[in-house]
Amino acid sequence: MSSVLQRRQQLLGDATLFYEDPIQIVKGDGVLLYDEKGKQYIDMYNNVPCVGHANPVVVEAMAKQMSTLNVHSRYLHEGILNYAERLLGLHHADLENIIFACTGTEASEIALMTARIATRGRGIICTDATYHGNSSEVIKMAIAASLGEPANAEFRAIPFPQKYRPLQQGLDEEALCELYLDKIRQAIADFEGNKIPFAGMFVCSIFANEGLPDIPGSFMAKATDIVHAAGGLMIADEVQAGFCRSGDFWGYETTGFKPDIVCMGKPMGNGLPLSAVAASADHVASFRKATRYFNTFASSPLQAAVGMAVLDEIQNRDLLRQSAAVGAYMRNALKRIQADHPSMGDVRGCGLFTGIEWVTEDNQADREGAIAVTNKLKEKGFLLSNAGILKNVIKVRPPLVFEKKHADQFLEAFKEIVKDG
Ligand SMILES: Cc1ncc(COP(=O)(O)O)c(C=O)c1O
Repeated sequence: MSSVLQRRQQLLGDATLFYEDPIQIVKGDGVLLYDEKGKQYIDMYNNVPCVGHANPVVVEAMAKQMSTLNVHSRYLHEGILNYAERLLGLHHADLENIIFACTGTEASEIALMTARIATRGRGIICTDATYHGNSSEVIKMAIAASLGEPANAEFRAIPFPQKYRPLQQGLDEEALCELYLDKIRQAIADFEGNKIPFAGMFVCSIFANEGLPDIPGSFMAKATDIVHAAGGLMIADEVQAGFCRSGDFWGYETTGFKPDIVCMGKPMGNGLPLSAVAASADHVASFRKATRYFNTFASSPLQAAVGMAVLDEIQNRDLLRQSAAVGAYMRNALKRIQADHPSMGDVRGCGLFTGIEWVTEDNQADREGAIAVTNKLKEKGFLLSNAGILKNVIKVRPPLVFEKKHADQFLEAFKEIVKDG
């Protein structure tokens, strides 16, 4: 065992690590990462440094703001207003106001509170393989997912919609979509039966943690209609899906629905803790009135300067177009490889977010196989991980600055690995 690994265990306890033989990263530059021996890796997993590791434009904006002023949000400052205006301008028009925070978990908390205050409801529908954060309230969604209904009467986990392992075989797409929608109707009826007023549905717009499924029919738009008809609000978690990851600026554009509340996080600050919730002016007003929300490090000049620099980089380097084009290019190539390799059960995704479903000969989820492939790719200098409800989906999610030439290098290495078995 390396001395760093040993010290880590002594000091931090049993904190999770990636890879059978963990790596020590000492430097990042764009999509590249370097370990302590100088070995180079292409980062194909981290969506937080969306405009690249150690991005000089972001670093300069951060240093400049930090050496000028950084205070909490109870003073006037134009920087945060300019940033809020620009961010809201990227969303659909009914999202009018914004609340800044630091982490995705905090954004999820704010979104939950906003929905509950606005509807005076409590009941929240989530999916059965979800993760939206780790505070004691937000984690109830993940617990509802893993334990089922009795542990959390106010959270109902429904099966996430998917075509690859559908709830029922042999249905056409519309019928399958209806079957999943029925689960929402049942959850709402269940809340009603238990006298729990309904507050809304909380989902990642592209079901990233669920394993990035192909969604049957127009599930998201129809789910939104059902939620609205029952008096609830639709909450889109864009913590993973947002900021061009899906090939559109927002995941909800990709999956075709109009959320009432949107949570943003991870890539927003390229590593600086920065998250936000957007909603209508009325919903934000009732949230602020009820909670007088304050977050020491949020809504600061520093967050604004860094957030702006990230948006500048996305725009100036045309990263939205690149995410869609490079992602489609890589998926098409992976699909060609899949034709000769039955262990690649499914290749799916959107933008720079691809899932490769790893399966056994009889089409069962092959978690060990997926882990073996990610470990072999790591040895060849490509960092990925496995995800999804059955942990057999190889998750390909590079920073937005990942280019076609990086995709080609990855595809070469991937081909060699699947060829060797
Ligand atoms: C979809 C989604 N929402 C929210 C979160 C929570 O974000 P954070 O770790 O910044 O609290 C995560 C974290 O992985 C996530 O994947």
